[in-house]
Amino acid sequence: MKKEQAIGVFDSGLGGLTVAKAINQLLPNEDVVYFGDTAHLPYGDKSKQTIIQYSTAIARFLLENKCKVIVIACNSASSNAYDEVVELAGSKSLILNVIDPVVQYIVRTDYTNIGVIGTKSTIDSNSYQEKIHNARKGLYVTSMATPLLVPMIEEGFIYDDISNAIIRNYLSRREIADVESLILGCTHYPIIKHQINKFYNFDVDIVDSGKIVAGSLKDMLVKNNLLNEQATPGKNTFYVSDFTRYFKQISRMFFEEDIELELKNLWK
Ligand code: DGL
Repeated sequence: MKKEQAIGVFDSGLGGLTVAKAINQLLPNEDVVYFGDTAHLPYGDKSKQTIIQYSTAIARFLLENKCKVIVIACNSASSNAYDEVVELAGSKSLILNVIDPVVQYIVRTDYTNIGVIGTKSTIDSNSYQEKIHNARKGLYVTSMATPLLVPMIEEGFIYDDISNAIIRNYLSRREIADVESLILGCTHYPIIKHQINKFYNFDVDIVDSGKIVAGSLKDMLVKNNLLNEQATPGKNTFYVSDFTRYFKQISRMFFEEDIELELKNLWK
């Protein structure tokens, strides 16, 4: 691995752009190759086996693109396919998932009552609970699948009556009552972080993975002497496995600027 090599980032679709954006902001000199599997979105209701199959195919593509690190910017893939991606990469690339950095953050806080929301596949995997309990005993972790949130965000229902009603309905449930901190276990959810904060009257610490994962990535690069020291800003390349005008529109919502999406169908 060399410092000049790019950072690979992938997600089931475009939600992982929230992580890519945070990486750009913290590490502006790094080249980033992003892959959004828009042909197979969502991963949240797929089986573990299918998520492994898609994730390893994307990781293979990012390895061919000589990425020094692969960031799995999707909770559904992080919780179901991390070990398989690590095995595939071997010594060719470092792998960072979006769950471990958030777990490390949360166990260093004083919170004892923690909630997690995410897709069905993330919540069913129990990854957050297991990892938090392994890292620190005595914490109370509750979790709940909130499957309507991804389609709601993708359809642009944000800051309106529909999104308020859905958010209120989910967050009022007993499963996640009385939490001190709520982990947004899906890379789409930062888009509605403000609304979630408002639901709790800004009384609950809402934790999303973007900045935390970017910080862990930086630590990983420094530790392995892989930080890109080029003086010029890094280059971003964005691939998607299916392209429509609609994907182009919503990419702006996640990346906060217009980007060019290149079609790359790995499954042809
Ligand atoms: N961005 C994905 C995640 O973090 C959710 C979308 C999906 O279900 O594919 O889990």
